[in-house]
Amino acid sequence: MALAHRLASIASFYNNEESIYDIGCDHGLLGLHFQNYPLIKNIHLIDPNPYSVELIKKDKDSYITEREKLIFKRESGEKIKITESNSLVFIAGMGGKTIIEILSEWDEQNFQNCSQIVLSPHRDHLKLREYLKNKGMKLVGETVIYDQERYYEILSVGLKGESEVGLYGEKLWKTEASANYKMHLLKHLSVHRDTRTVNYLNYLKALQI
Ligand SMILES: C[S@@+](CC[C@H](N)C(=O)[O-])C[C@H]1O[C@@H](n2cnc3c(N)ncnc32)[C@H](O)[C@@H]1O
Repeated sequence: MALAHRLASIASFYNNEESIYDIGCDHGLLGLHFQNYPLIKNIHLIDPNPYSVELIKKDKDSYITEREKLIFKRESGEKIKITESNSLVFIAGMGGKTIIEILSEWDEQNFQNCSQIVLSPHRDHLKLREYLKNKGMKLVGETVIYDQERYYEILSVGLKGESEVGLYGEKLWKTEASANYKMHLLKHLSVHRDTRTVNYLNYLKALQI
């Protein structure tokens, strides 16, 4: 099944991992997308909302081609144990604060089993970046996309990566959507007066794009 632009961009971070954990899977489309990937052994579809898992089983039945790969869990991301090595974890479509709450509950083993954790917060991305940086997470990659009249930051982090997680996302500003995203942020954030946002605005104003 073809994914729409936002989910396709998130899925494009896949890098030959063997297990998928789609945390906060809701409709399940992201996790289900990987059913036919030959290397994938298990796809964990995780959501605390009981309707989500039931809806996937009912509404998405015709999309399910590899039932034996699917593991449904009615669980919050905080409680999940990443038991398989070389796992790709997605946490998308929720606020940065919720993502922080989830990752804060994880033990070291969870992080060690993730080849990458792909995050796409719908808000509070500055707080999330600050948390990841302070935790010493490394950046695997990042981008910003525009889909259905909204911008989405997507960042992939792990214990190993090419650089530190930047507070403002250095690579974000080299993508197709960068210039418009910058203008969007300058317009919408300028009403905020907290130090974190003011520093971010100063960074954006100085950006040469
Ligand atoms: C807007 S949906 C996002 C669905 C999908 N990940 C996407 O990006 O399209 C957010 C989902 O996150 C789930 N959620 C909220 N808090 C969560 C938590 N602490 N752990 C796991 N899932 C959570 C909600 O139940 C909801 O189904």
